Amino acid sequence: MNSSPRPIVLDVDTGIDDAWAIAYALRSSHLDVLGITTGFGNADVHTTTQNTLLMVQLLGKDTPVYAGADRPLVRGWEGPVPEYHGHNGLGDVDLPAVVRRPEPADAASFLRDVVRAHPHQITLVTVARLTNVARALLFDPELSHLIPRIVMMGGAAFVPGNITAVAEANIWGDPEAADLVFRSGIPITMVGLDVTMRARLTRADLARMNPSAIPYATLLKQATEFYIRAYESDDPSIDGWCPLHDPLAVAVAEDPSLVSTRPYPVRVETRGALTDGMTVVDARSSNPQGNTDLALTLDVERFLGTFRERVGIAQK
Ligand code: BDR
Ligand code: CA
Repeated sequence: MNSSPRPIVLDVDTGIDDAWAIAYALRSSHLDVLGITTGFGNADVHTTTQNTLLMVQLLGKDTPVYAGADRPLVRGWEGPVPEYHGHNGLGDVDLPAVVRRPEPADAASFLRDVVRAHPHQITLVTVARLTNVARALLFDPELSHLIPRIVMMGGAAFVPGNITAVAEANIWGDPEAADLVFRSGIPITMVGLDVTMRARLTRADLARMNPSAIPYATLLKQATEFYIRAYESDDPSIDGWCPLHDPLAVAVAEDPSLVSTRPYPVRVETRGALTDGMTVVDARSSNPQGNTDLALTLDVERFLGTFRERVGIAQK
């Protein structure tokens, strides 16, 4: 990868795995992060914005942060997920003071302006509800012709969901927004639970992070211990690790060869009694080429090797 850095906008709901995704993106020499947009999800939007600003601050960067949606497009917000991310979104760890401020523009206006300023160039990397992107598309529908690709952490194609039997959190949290994005015509790479549950950060990895060398190490070690415990208490088959959902989407935006994909038509269920938020993948062989490149396999070792090196975890 010798070409100039790929311009991206990262959409987050920081969130413990979002915090790792921000570190992965801002420490990349292959990505140029033009801005980070925030929304409700793992916590309320004020909290996710503060956590995002904190990560930017600890990473020593000046990436602009734009606060966005505080609720889904049409339904009420179901509330945060303190069981997984803590009441403060970062594992209830005591946080340092945040001195940075969000930009005055809101997330949807920023998305419109940045895409218009760089037509056909910006990859949107979404690791949260799709509300900000949906709002930008409603505001300026032509954006769908100007965004070359969305790399999305979201959905569960051929594996169970993590909120309901069939729905993954980022889609379940605003199904109408997600369906609008899937129907927009923008090419999508879906990095769903099919691959993210195979990208595992372990307690042993955390132990190999040197807090004196890395300003965010203490915070993310403690927060991730909380996250690992949450996964362990929810699923007896999980022992000593948590999935790196959001960093994997950033990694795929940087290096699509980390996953193999197949195109499928994908829509989101918005009216199901049992299936709201399901990513419905039409896998019938008679079907025409789809709107979504679905990530199906992951080069686990290559991803984890790059992840460890990028975020400052000493190799084994
Ligand atoms: C996704 O949901 C959020 O809680 C995580 O940050 C991740 O983006 C995983 O389903
Ligand atoms: Ca997230």
